[in-house]
Amino acid sequence: MQREAHLSNAALMARRHAAVARGVGQAHEIFISRGENAEFWDVEGRRYIDFAGGIAVLNTGHCHPEVIAAVKAQLDLYTHTCFQVVAYEPYVELAERLNALAPGQFAKKTLFLSTGAEAVENAVKIARSYTKRAGIIAFTGGYHGRTMMTLGLTGKVAPYKSGFGPFPGEVFHATFPNELYGVSVADALHSVETILKNDIEADRVAAFIVEPVQGEGGFYVAPGEFIAGLKALADKHGILLIADEVQTGAGRTGTWFASEQWPVAPDLITTAKSLAGGFPLSGVVGRADVIDAPAAGGLGGTYAGSPVACAAALAVIQAFEQEKLLARSQDMGALLVRGLNEMAAKMPAIGDVRGLGAMVAIELFEGGDVHRPDAALTKKVVAEAARRGLILLSCGTYGNVIRILVPLTATDALLDEGLEILADSFSALRSCA
Ligand SMILES: Cc1ncc(COP(=O)(O)O)c(C=O)c1O
Repeated sequence: MQREAHLSNAALMARRHAAVARGVGQAHEIFISRGENAEFWDVEGRRYIDFAGGIAVLNTGHCHPEVIAAVKAQLDLYTHTCFQVVAYEPYVELAERLNALAPGQFAKKTLFLSTGAEAVENAVKIARSYTKRAGIIAFTGGYHGRTMMTLGLTGKVAPYKSGFGPFPGEVFHATFPNELYGVSVADALHSVETILKNDIEADRVAAFIVEPVQGEGGFYVAPGEFIAGLKALADKHGILLIADEVQTGAGRTGTWFASEQWPVAPDLITTAKSLAGGFPLSGVVGRADVIDAPAAGGLGGTYAGSPVACAAALAVIQAFEQEKLLARSQDMGALLVRGLNEMAAKMPAIGDVRGLGAMVAIELFEGGDVHRPDAALTKKVVAEAARRGLILLSCGTYGNVIRILVPLTATDALLDEGLEILADSFSALRSCA
């Protein structure tokens, strides 16, 4: 198909508004023409540093050469059979690799799907099938996707859930621990016990589902003692523990799965996003006896575990090994936290700097007062940074968190350049306030 030679962002935005559903949001009014590692260029030729990574999808950067080569090689062989009709080795090899990478001293199995929400849906189906129970306990501030069940699990109303209910039943929300907002681990565990007292008997609960670091919710890390307490409750009542690692997985937090850093292994892990370096692929990895509960034919999907995406994911894992990207994730996290702490020392609005590995965020408050989340300033900083060539994303229950999901393959020089743009954006806004 012939594309116009000279496109402008504004002209494309006008066409987008006329042709595309309003409900599909867009953080920046920019259309990409080409991406390379941690940079991309828009249709007007302007360069951007990408600290968003397509929402945690580009841990290996835009168009990683090995990923592209693997995909091109796969395209020349076959692109689709539907794994449930005629199988292919890349799916099996990738399952073997993830089974070996996942934490836990037990036999593991994996199935593949296409999106993060689909992985979460399937983890719930598997947990229900294994336990023969219906209840699921999720957490406030959690985000699990945009399908009806995953919206039900999501613990944030606007904009995700507004107007779309009712959602499936037997879903309850306990409080996620958050020291910054005065919610201790004991408070959080107590809220789980309260649900088991007030809302649903423990022996009707199939699973707890928790993100090791809340993604859309604001990059709050689940403390190890909270996970240990949750697992103790789970073991006491025969409840499964699901780690939703759609955003934290594939090396973002310094280990392949963030739950490797937990004191106990989850029964099931969902994974997606950076797993296939930009190609749509998700999966559920976990205890073989649990994953095998549904009968043959109970799981799958037409495009689930596409051979092209599986080939990309195998290349992503190889890139992690060859380029030592797990160590890079830890180093990059330390570098970002140091740089952001230096910035916070000069900008009172930055009330908190936190993260796990290279999953790092700052939280903004009016005058640094944690009782006054500053969503307006957050919006302005994100927009000002984009004007200066840095792509950022906000998140958080109050919309006052700026998260960094820059490719792990970015150079230190590029990170410094990005951080400088962020600091300049704060300064520019302060001087015109
Ligand atoms: C923790 C978590 N779970 C599930 C999802 C849903 O993934 P997808 O958008 O691929 O359906 C996301 C997406 O941001 C996520 O962060």
